[in-house]
Amino acid sequence: MKLLVVLGSPRKGGNGEVLVEKIAEQVEKSGGAVDYVRLNTLKLRPCQGCGGCDKTGVCVIKDDMESIYEAADAADRILLVSPVYFYGLSAQSKIFGDRMQALWARKYLLKNRFREGEGRKGYLLSTAATKGEKIFDCSVLTARYIFDAMDFEYGGEFLVKGVDEKKAVLETPDEMDRAVQFGRDMVAGTI
Ligand SMILES: Cc1cc2nc3c(=O)[nH]c(=O)nc-3n(C[C@H](O)[C@H](O)[C@H](O)COP(=O)(O)O)c2cc1C
Repeated sequence: MKLLVVLGSPRKGGNGEVLVEKIAEQVEKSGGAVDYVRLNTLKLRPCQGCGGCDKTGVCVIKDDMESIYEAADAADRILLVSPVYFYGLSAQSKIFGDRMQALWARKYLLKNRFREGEGRKGYLLSTAATKGEKIFDCSVLTARYIFDAMDFEYGGEFLVKGVDEKKAVLETPDEMDRAVQFGRDMVAGTI
């Protein structure tokens, strides 16, 4: 398994990353490889909606997104890690998603499905400070749509409510155990 972890929080070592460590450990233990991109340290312009990708499936903006397209292409699993910011994905994660418009064009306008049937899967990991019933709804819908554009099947989500301070999730041993299990399930192919 080649897992690409897309770190979408500007907060290094925060709740999402603490949980990702547990998941990544399981992948590595099983002989899989884990690669990371930290969006906040990259130069990424938001999608300009120019339609430049419509006829090519390739984004016209030349920035660090080029290395992300390559990393995503090399991966068979992608885990998008984003905190909830105002009921949705972080801005960094949203830019990552919007720039997948080029792959949306490849799939839906150019009908180029050359990676179809490869069983690639994408997952969302998200944490939020509050415990609102709908706190993850927007992020889950957006992540599902991003992975669909990328031709990655949506494998599911790992969500933790009620954690705000950096590393607060360490004080929730049940969630830490659940993250280990999520990693095991990924490796086992049950999600
Ligand atoms: C700009 C900003 C917006 C936020 N918006 C929400 C929100 O709408 N709902 C919520 O429950 N938590 C919100 N939070 C709290 C984070 O989701 C929470 O602290 C999360 O665990 C951070 O994850 P991280 O440590 O991986 O960055 C917000 C935090 C920031 C900085």
